[in-house]
Amino acid sequence: MIRVVFVCLGNICRSPTAEGVFRDLVIKNNLQSKIVCESRGTGPWHVGEPPDPRSQSCALQNGVDLSSLRGRQFSTYDFEVFDYILVMDESNYKDVLRQAGTEDDEKKVGYLLKYAQKPRGLNVPDPYQGGPEGFQSVFRMIEESAQGLLQHLKKEHQL
Ligand code: 4NP
Repeated sequence: MIRVVFVCLGNICRSPTAEGVFRDLVIKNNLQSKIVCESRGTGPWHVGEPPDPRSQSCALQNGVDLSSLRGRQFSTYDFEVFDYILVMDESNYKDVLRQAGTEDDEKKVGYLLKYAQKPRGLNVPDPYQGGPEGFQSVFRMIEESAQGLLQHLKKEHQL
């Protein structure tokens, strides 16, 4: 089993969107017995909460239901559980790396956007303070990168 976790700051906007989008892709490709995914936030504020209503409605417009997801905080234990720890921006990257215990832990950490077909930088912008267009563009970036990630995993693990 390949275990992937998506990490942002609050775990209510970007990383739950990535979890929902990527899980749908995995199911559509009939790989649910080979790949599992979850999401986390580096911060504690939204633990136990469902995704932001704006992220939920944006995802739902695109056919992805996030309503059953609940906020969880990233912890050092996640280095033991997951094979791929994919962050949304440079600040998440630093926060996660700071908690790594070994070189192997560090090697698991990467940027989701590195899997985008067209390179567009490393950061999925935090949409929390902005308007609805922000959520739509975040969704598109995540969707494109999630597809790239799945192609990468298929190749890397001969799925
Ligand atoms: P996310 O967005 O990291 O994409 O879930 C945020 C949500 C909430 C907060 C920050 C970012 N917050 O500070 O409460």
